Amino acid sequence: MSANRVLHLFICGAGPATQIRQLVDIAQRDNWDVYCVATSSAIEHFLDTGELASLTGHDVRTTYRKPGDSSTPPPDAVVVAPATYNTLNKWAAGIADNYVLSQLAELTGARVRIVALPFVNQALAANAVFIRSIESLRASGVRVLFGPGEFEPHQPRTGDSALARFPWGLALRAAESSDGAE
Ligand SMILES: Cc1cc2nc3c(=O)[nH]c(=O)nc-3n(C[C@H](O)[C@H](O)[C@H](O)COP(=O)(O)O)c2cc1C
Repeated sequence: MSANRVLHLFICGAGPATQIRQLVDIAQRDNWDVYCVATSSAIEHFLDTGELASLTGHDVRTTYRKPGDSSTPPPDAVVVAPATYNTLNKWAAGIADNYVLSQLAELTGARVRIVALPFVNQALAANAVFIRSIESLRASGVRVLFGPGEFEPHQPRTGDSALARFPWGLALRAAESSDGAE
């Protein structure tokens, strides 16, 4: 594989994180070199970081680099998937109290192309806070794949059956597209 574009993949703590290799596979086929960054919830409940590191060839980052750690090249594009209710709301509010959020804060300000693919149920999605956060992130240039034809929320307690239709491919297509940032 001669990957020449760098994709930073931010993974939050929701069910689709167990299937993250689907996105890694599509991205690698499209010649992206994938660097994963995960929240503590993703690590604790959903991810096999060893498997992910061997798939991508890079350690899964969870915190700041220490002296001697290998550096990560800057991204050509960023995908946040699955993006949780928690991370989307904190990101939109400017909270940077963990590594993922502080990276997203900087990348958003730097106008790097960022695509967010949420995974939330209908109850969370109907919360006014969430709706405001999506609007605010879009106003900051983030391409949030939420709505008809993009991620459509499922009924509460049906997340497991919604996993099979999580639209990983849309996230990659938006990352590729020159209008990835709105
Ligand atoms: C089994 C399980 C399933 C979860 N599913 C979701 C989900 O589908 N969407 C969501 O936004 N949060 C979900 N959560 C809750 C988040 O993991 C929780 O809000 C966490 O604080 C998110 O942290 P993060 O945003 O830093 O990853 C789930 C938690 C667990 C343990």
